[in-house]
Amino acid sequence: MRDASADRRLQRGVPAPNSVRMKELLSDAAQRAIRYLENLDGRSVAPTPEAVVALRAFDHPLPEASTEPAAVLRMLDEIGSPATTAMAGRRFFGFVIGGSLPVTLAANWLAGAWDQNTGLYRPTPGTAFLEQVALRWLLEVLGLPRECGGAFVTGATVANLCGLAAARHAVLKRAGWNVEADGLFGAPPITVIISAEAHPSVTKSLGVLGLGRTRVIKVPVDGQGRMRVEALPAIDGPTIVCVQVGNVNTGAMDPVQEICRRARPAGAWVHVDGAFGLWAAVAPSRASLVAGIGEADSWATDAHKWLNVPYDCGLAFVRDPHALRAAMAITAEYLPTQGDYRNPGDFTPELSRRARGVEVWAALRSLGRAGLAELVERNCAQARRFATQLTAAGCEILNDVVLNQVLVAFGDAERTKRVIEAVQTDGTCWAGITVWQGRTAMRLSISSWATTDADVDRSVEAIVRAFRG
Ligand SMILES: Cc1ncc(COP(=O)(O)O)c(C=O)c1O
Repeated sequence: MRDASADRRLQRGVPAPNSVRMKELLSDAAQRAIRYLENLDGRSVAPTPEAVVALRAFDHPLPEASTEPAAVLRMLDEIGSPATTAMAGRRFFGFVIGGSLPVTLAANWLAGAWDQNTGLYRPTPGTAFLEQVALRWLLEVLGLPRECGGAFVTGATVANLCGLAAARHAVLKRAGWNVEADGLFGAPPITVIISAEAHPSVTKSLGVLGLGRTRVIKVPVDGQGRMRVEALPAIDGPTIVCVQVGNVNTGAMDPVQEICRRARPAGAWVHVDGAFGLWAAVAPSRASLVAGIGEADSWATDAHKWLNVPYDCGLAFVRDPHALRAAMAITAEYLPTQGDYRNPGDFTPELSRRARGVEVWAALRSLGRAGLAELVERNCAQARRFATQLTAAGCEILNDVVLNQVLVAFGDAERTKRVIEAVQTDGTCWAGITVWQGRTAMRLSISSWATTDADVDRSVEAIVRAFRG
């Protein structure tokens, strides 16, 4: 017997729950996604100019009538998929972009079906609990204090914002000022110390927080982009020191332990931007680079980079969970929401939010400590493999390859730019451009679970081809 209301919904293009059409649609989406991923290896990493031009087909007047959902999906796939960059593939080395471990993509699909608004524990116990467990595992694997509070946010930019908001709360509270209640007008001034090579997301966060993008003391760096500890100014009064583990160009780490030992006894809050570098802690051969990392007060990192979960997922950790909660919770500080379980939204800028911790839980459950260590070790070894082969081919490596970042120059700025353009057009792999300490360079970042040594070799061949022109 036919369901008349379901028929009417279908005519309007809205699939009825549990209808055959919904199953067909979701199966079709899964098939298309699988086909997309399987085809990545055989296509150009960058989209072709024709594929980008074809995007115009999306841009027509807002339709009055409904469209069959299957047709909408087909359009997205047929026009949208070719116009993507193969960031999920094995030879994308731009920015710092991990792929998605298959288990995390699968978990993302399932969590999408759950559609849980995970701001509060009570209505969404499943996803809120998964985040709570994932947070505990993260602190353990990253070597951070177990008492930390944490937030699953969109990326390291917002994680920096969260850590710095907690810092602002704490240093002003110590000075007898309630910044959440009274704002910054008339507040005791806060000294903010950052590295001369701090990531722009740190300065942006400082601006959003009313601390000023340029009203900072910049500490000079050494030849690898590490903050020079001896150049730290004397610390007096409310102070926040921002350190970096994982310079976005070189991968180098600020000497975080030394900085903590100077700054914290003087009453400063030390915030660490470790968008990708924090993951060095999980790899036995790299862990010494972040020795003493647990001595800081707050940390920002990304799961969508080296943990290889789908976009987007950043992580903020704060030693004093009350400082993070005071800065972020919608509820007033005097309203006790503490219980056996945490409300995720008490620690994030958003109240309504998707449960980003589900994919983090799935990644850690699937990889285990050993699998995660192996992933980071393998990518670091692949960075050295790039550096060795490119040096042998006559290219210049500008940085000490201590982690997963490789800076390559091919002569002067103009020639380097030309080589990078040729590599991007060739499509075997993708790498971006940077200017670091006055030198124009290609920046290779190896962060994907899927990259093999053979992919590195194939990419080196393509780069050398472009170099020799
Ligand atoms: C050191 C550092 N901090 C912060 C960020 C910003 O991260 P996101 O783009 O995830 O917000 C990045 C991005 O590459 C980074 O390398």
